[in-house]
Amino acid sequence: MTVNDLQPNMIHAENLTHYYGPYPAIQDVNFGVRKGEILGFLGPNGAGKTTTMRIITGFVPPTHGTVTLDGYDVVEQSLEARRRVGYLPETVPLYTDMSVNSYLKYMGTLRGMSPDAIKTRLGQVIDVCRLGDYRKTQIGKLSKGFRQRVGIAQAILHEPQVLVLDEPTIGIDPIQVVETRKLIQELGRDQTVVLSSHILPEVSMICDRVLIIDEGRIVAEDTPKNLAEGLQGVERLEVEIGGPAAEVLPMLKGIDGVSDVTHVNNNGRHTYMVQAQPGKDLRDDISQVVVNNGWSLRGLQLVGMSLEEIFLRLTTHEEL
Ligand SMILES: Nc1ncnc2c1ncn2[C@@H]1O[C@H](COP(=O)(O)OP(=O)(O)OP(=O)(O)O)[C@@H](O)[C@H]1O
Ligand SMILES: [Mg+2]
Repeated sequence: MTVNDLQPNMIHAENLTHYYGPYPAIQDVNFGVRKGEILGFLGPNGAGKTTTMRIITGFVPPTHGTVTLDGYDVVEQSLEARRRVGYLPETVPLYTDMSVNSYLKYMGTLRGMSPDAIKTRLGQVIDVCRLGDYRKTQIGKLSKGFRQRVGIAQAILHEPQVLVLDEPTIGIDPIQVVETRKLIQELGRDQTVVLSSHILPEVSMICDRVLIIDEGRIVAEDTPKNLAEGLQGVERLEVEIGGPAAEVLPMLKGIDGVSDVTHVNNNGRHTYMVQAQPGKDLRDDISQVVVNNGWSLRGLQLVGMSLEEIFLRLTTHEEL
């Protein structure tokens, strides 16, 4: 346990359930996020990421359950809670005929900032979001990536302790994606960040913790590293065998408990990726087959799943 574990949650969500009409969009969602933590919501389309974020930010009240931000209930103490949160929604309602400067000033006024506070903060936000060359540009004339930066700028304007970013890098080019990720990481040093994404490497790169949501429920929650390790199991093995591939392959496939084998010939080094049925440890059986046939076992190791595979395993309902 570290000192950080003892800190109270900056965001605390308990038993969140939300219905749109008769259908639950999310069901019994529980999580906490500590100060300075970056939490990623990962899930397929329609999983409930945006719904959860709209609840956290106080835009929609949950049908059941509660959320507190820094101890303030987002429904019961919405003014206090909202003051502490910056939100980049899925579609940012930008006023396209305003300049970047006037839009940000306007948003500051809406948030109750004084003209002096806006003036000081505007310069900082423009710097942080690297919008310096575009202060006077009409928002309607900005590219998608720069509009996204304006969206982030309005979210951080009032120096909220909590930032909620719904797919912050969607639709922007790879160079701007790298910049935006850097920016989020910088912001994450002092603030608590919740972001959603479909992009798995992005989540594992930026986030301290990942929450995988599927059909409105949390199906896994851990650090990207632990998720990959925890599901590693003994179900996939990479084996290098010295012996004729034409004979080795059918023998491996014939082992009881093997569900699939793929063969790679890497400059004469024959490696086989052996997929076992769930829960089977086939290391002894494989060694036995190799020895019995007079081949040589040059390597045998367990192979972890990529975050992609974990995600698919948790969110698809067929056997992979
Ligand atoms: N305003 C609404 N009215 C009715 N149903 C809605 C509404 N908003 C969302 N839903 C439904 O709630 C479920 C969750 O949607 P949500 O937008 O939260 O998913 P998401 O994880 O953000 O998906 P995406 O990755 O596509 O953005 C979906 O089944 C969606 O159709
Ligand atoms: Mg969404």
